[in-house]
Amino acid sequence: MAIERTLSIIKPDATRRNLTGKINAKFEEAGLRIVAQKRIQLTKAQAGEFYKVHAERPFYDELCDFMASEPVVVQVLEGDGAIAKNREVMGATNPADAAPGTIRAEYAESVGENSVHGSDAPETAAVEIAYFFSGLELVG
Ligand code: CMP
Repeated sequence: MAIERTLSIIKPDATRRNLTGKINAKFEEAGLRIVAQKRIQLTKAQAGEFYKVHAERPFYDELCDFMASEPVVVQVLEGDGAIAKNREVMGATNPADAAPGTIRAEYAESVGENSVHGSDAPETAAVEIAYFFSGLELVG
């Protein structure tokens, strides 16, 4: 496996419950390195642009409202096969389907408020990282 970078978001349901450290521990225990991280408050328009691939889905408006409701922590995770590894650590989108020990099994509240986002492929990871971080902010 090659060293990859992936974009991760700790979502408002998790920042509200002060779970940033516990979630970061899961990443680090899995061998993922947090090479950039910042806590920001998204506007609904910024959330909408990030999730525009879902614009036609029935949950899009609710998703954008939720992502703008409270601060998020955006981060870049680096490691061997980081994209797939992060998705493994996160667990399935719906916490009811997430494997035991995964972030979503332990912390997610619902399919919408599911604590974390992670890029799904190298192309999306590149676009998503560039949406939040400049090259100067990535310190490997
Ligand atoms: P995420 O991995 O961030 O990518 C898109 C998000 O849309 C997903 O996690 C969920 O938070 C959200 N989502 C997916 N399906 C639904 C649904 N049925 N209802 C509400 N939100 C959803």
